[in-house]
Amino acid sequence: MSKEIIYPVPQKLLQDPKPYINNFDDYKTLWQESISDPSQFFAKAAKEHLYWNRPFETTMSGDFKDGNIAWFLEGELNACYNCVDRHAITTPDKVAIIHEGDDPKDTRKITYNELLLQVCRMANVLKTLDICKGDKVIIYMPMIPETMIAMLACARIGAVHSVVFAGFSADSLRDRIVDCGARVVITADEGKRGGRFVATKRIVDEALEIGQDTDIVERVVVCKHTGSDINMVEHRDIWWHEALDQARPFCPVVPVNSEDPLFLLYTSGSTGTPKGVVHTTGGYLLGAAMTVKYVFDYHPEDIYACMADLGWITGHTYITYGPLCLGATTILFESTPTYPTPSRFWELVDKHKVTQFYTAPTAIRALKRLGDEWVDACDLSSLRVIGSVGEPINAEAWQWYYEKVGRGQCAVVDTYWQTETGSIIISPLPGATPTKPGSATFPFFGIEPVILEPTTGEVLQGNAVTGVLAIAKPWPSMARTVYNNHHRFMETYLKPYPGYYFTGDGATRDEDGYIYINGRVDDVINVSGHRLSTAEIESALILHLDVAEAAVIAGHDELTGQCIHAFCTLKPLVGVEPEQLIKSLILQVRKTIGPFAKPKAIYIVQDLPKTRSGKILRRMLRKIVNNESDQIGDTSTMADEGIIHHLINAVKEAT
Ligand code: WTA
Repeated sequence: MSKEIIYPVPQKLLQDPKPYINNFDDYKTLWQESISDPSQFFAKAAKEHLYWNRPFETTMSGDFKDGNIAWFLEGELNACYNCVDRHAITTPDKVAIIHEGDDPKDTRKITYNELLLQVCRMANVLKTLDICKGDKVIIYMPMIPETMIAMLACARIGAVHSVVFAGFSADSLRDRIVDCGARVVITADEGKRGGRFVATKRIVDEALEIGQDTDIVERVVVCKHTGSDINMVEHRDIWWHEALDQARPFCPVVPVNSEDPLFLLYTSGSTGTPKGVVHTTGGYLLGAAMTVKYVFDYHPEDIYACMADLGWITGHTYITYGPLCLGATTILFESTPTYPTPSRFWELVDKHKVTQFYTAPTAIRALKRLGDEWVDACDLSSLRVIGSVGEPINAEAWQWYYEKVGRGQCAVVDTYWQTETGSIIISPLPGATPTKPGSATFPFFGIEPVILEPTTGEVLQGNAVTGVLAIAKPWPSMARTVYNNHHRFMETYLKPYPGYYFTGDGATRDEDGYIYINGRVDDVINVSGHRLSTAEIESALILHLDVAEAAVIAGHDELTGQCIHAFCTLKPLVGVEPEQLIKSLILQVRKTIGPFAKPKAIYIVQDLPKTRSGKILRRMLRKIVNNESDQIGDTSTMADEGIIHHLINAVKEAT
């Protein structure tokens, strides 16, 4: 891999504004300091980047063995104060949020002072609904400023938000509401994406109708966005605008301990039920702020644009908390990359003179395929740093991004991280790191990555090694636990390789020490940067009355990176047309999880490949789907070798 071209830091970047870190040696020195004395390094950083109501005395404690990690222990702070108030005092008229609506003509700008007033009002509304410190609030909303206002209002009073991506179905929403025991749900009448409406309020209603466990929800606050007719449930639903009109526009902040939770975010793992990943306040906020500053080389005049959805971790850290903590202007984009035309992203950059632009490889690949004219038509000269996140970026997409979007003058930052890591952990720094297409390059401050031999757990020293990726030391923004299930936290992340945090990803360190992420080694599928568990999709499929067994695996897809392939066996005497059945199975998955979990292919087969002890050989299905049937390897442990050719034929017939 080291034979690949190395791209030096573009000259334009080294000029004005001067990057915080402008050569590789400085990066290495700082990184070394952060690893050899993390307490000193992060104590200084935490004082520099955050406002503390009460200073911390102990910078860090705990370890991976006991899973009792804590940062800035005695410190008290408030995330909302750090993200809003302090900037409303120093730069009240600076724009905090630019909302770029679904229709390109709908742009709304909110200054820090306006944001503070809205957040205070909303915080007071939550208080009237009896929401106090530690209470959970579910947010199921489209990409509008009110979503950020709701998040910040929770943070202001110490309540814990859990934003649920508005692409999740009523069933998934219900599971999350029940798991965290939320008494209040905040939603909007409808969302809008690419000219289409998303019935957020209706989905909330449905979620609350399923079973009795949702009786805990006392109130639903509804923001009017599209203005269409919706059902309001008496004594339960209240309008956002009416409630805010009544509320006082000042609300004192509730300082919380650094280790008090800021939010829960549900994410898919290897087993069926999603886990509520818990992020705490001080460490998370520091990670968010420092990575926006150093990985995106953010300067005060910049216009920062992250295209992710607020329902995922990227939206939390790189639309809301990171940029606002630094007092930045952050763009909130409601639409899609191709609406109304494939120039939409680039028109947005041109219109707002965006300096940092952050998106996912899937979007880059889709836009590349649609032709250069869409990007060539726009003036992108304001850009300095362009980022990629969520899945491995292939070299061709990287080069197109670098040449066409960045005009060879921007730093491409391929940022590797996870919901659990809180903020970026491996990435180039714009002014310092020479890049290689497809490599996330080197660790961020405080991150000590190791590559382990998967079966023995032995640390693979030196360069030119491949294995699984783990992290050797705790860092401030890492998740602390899984909500109500610390056992699962330990089992998933800290037990597999004792003494290390296990990422679940495979990685290579090449001859020059550059890190390449090779994708998940567990049962997580990454479709367009959306994380899904095979077990979750299998559970959805077997809910269908005709299905006996299901096995879900990841196929390769040029556009979405990975895609979902499902093999199902049927219960005896099922007489439905296969085509009809496949349609209803797809519907079943959409209904149980959400539209984004739709399988690309479903194969109805007579049997699944199994070992003699009954374990499904998913590895074999993976080979068959990805045209590697000739490499199936040893089949001697199989219960019935004869079924292989049936499976190969089933896949061939379907394609
Ligand atoms: C994958 C998203 C390669 C990885 C922030 C990880 C990546 C999972 C990259 C986390 C990257 C994220 N290169 N793979 N730059 N960034 N991933 O929790 O498999 O939604 O484990 O967080 O996305 O997904 P999550």
